[in-house]
Amino acid sequence: MYFDSHAHLDDARFQPDFDDILARMRENGVTGMMNIGCDLPSSERSIERYDWIWAAVGSHPDDADHVDEARIARYRALCQNPRVRAIGEIGLDYHYEDIPREIQKTAFRMQLALARELSMPVVVHEREAHEDGMRIIDEFPEVKGVFHCYSGSLEMAKELVKRGWYIGFTGVITFKNARKAVEVAEWLPLSRTLIETDCPYMAPEPFRGRRCDQSMVPQMAKKIAEIKGLAPEAVAQATFRNAVTLFRLDAAGV
Ligand code: NI
Repeated sequence: MYFDSHAHLDDARFQPDFDDILARMRENGVTGMMNIGCDLPSSERSIERYDWIWAAVGSHPDDADHVDEARIARYRALCQNPRVRAIGEIGLDYHYEDIPREIQKTAFRMQLALARELSMPVVVHEREAHEDGMRIIDEFPEVKGVFHCYSGSLEMAKELVKRGWYIGFTGVITFKNARKAVEVAEWLPLSRTLIETDCPYMAPEPFRGRRCDQSMVPQMAKKIAEIKGLAPEAVAQATFRNAVTLFRLDAAGV
């Protein structure tokens, strides 16, 4: 039983063979999933179309220039749906800098404030913005969540765990040059570990470069098990339980 804690199954690339993907997902034991919003349309699609999938709503840093009070009000309204369990993905991405940093920071803070107001966890996308990312989450000590597709240092991972956060690993952990992610996964307590596809991106080896989907989730668990010297089932069970805890799905009967 696996939980994919970060998927974009509403992406147009899944439309042609959507039913096949669901069938293969079940064959591979993936029984839980969070579909993650990047902007308002994708956040709405998660809820409208997939009544068996949990959802996060929010604006990715690429969409930060659309985050204003009106947008926050829309996300607040979407959070009334019981399938919405988190605000995300929100955060900072300084890799391309298409959106100015100050605008990204403002959008990140506004969405963290919404999570605090609603007592909901967050799904954070943070790339090449480690210092600002940590500084801003420290402004909201009541808010917890996951740093997804983790790319930070071991030191930063320790700081996150100290604050009660989770860390999510994609197929990147299986790449030959994934030294940093491997080092973090080796140290990270299993109780703080999540696995995710980030599909359609980040397919694990031996599928690197292809469209990622849920049938590949067991590869992530297998790799983490190998790194930590555990049975793959132990990683599958723990990461499933962690997703249930973080997104408070036990209250929803999972
Ligand atoms: Ni994502």
